[in-house]
Amino acid sequence: MELDTITDEHFRAGMQLIASTVTVITATCDGERSGMTATAVTSLSADPASMLICVNRSNRTHKFIMETRKFAVNLLTEDQQQIANNFAGQKSLDEKFLSEGDWKITESGLSVLNDGLAVFVCDVDQWMDTKTHTVFSGQIVACKLATNQSPLIYGKQAYLKAGPLENVA
Ligand SMILES: Cc1cc2nc3c(=O)[nH]c(=O)nc-3n(C[C@H](O)[C@H](O)[C@H](O)COP(=O)(O)O)c2cc1C
Repeated sequence: MELDTITDEHFRAGMQLIASTVTVITATCDGERSGMTATAVTSLSADPASMLICVNRSNRTHKFIMETRKFAVNLLTEDQQQIANNFAGQKSLDEKFLSEGDWKITESGLSVLNDGLAVFVCDVDQWMDTKTHTVFSGQIVACKLATNQSPLIYGKQAYLKAGPLENVA
């Protein structure tokens, strides 16, 4: 098999093949809240329960996480594409939360989606600046799951419905 040299085009097209659940990562600093759509989110370890997120340092939400060392990962349901669009754009921080979604505030001040697929509230325990991003390792301190709902997926440059997941025959 002949391999291709990596180009920007190949990179983008290749990464589009990694379909993943769409999330909104939120953080709050001095009473102001911020949030961004993210798919670079993954499980890290079960003991202690931890996850990784990759955040571009030019995103407004990055500063909020760095300053407070806390974030929440809100997994979206297949009906919440509009929320994904809102948080991927450059609307004012408050406008992002006010236009769509049943947002609640936790005791620690983080915004969490009451009608999402799942919420994981994390304390940052480590981070690494690499390339344009910071990889944050967060220890999960609280969660809420709605396992009867289906996830919103992003892949092939589009929002997708997972549908009922079936075993490969
Ligand atoms: C489907 C999708 C997935 C994204 N995933 C990430 C991600 O994992 N990390 C990241 O830094 N930005 C990601 N982005 C881009 C941010 O959502 C976008 O830059 C956002 O405007 C940042 O908002 P902020 O500057 O208000 O924090 C993604 C965008 C989309 C549409």
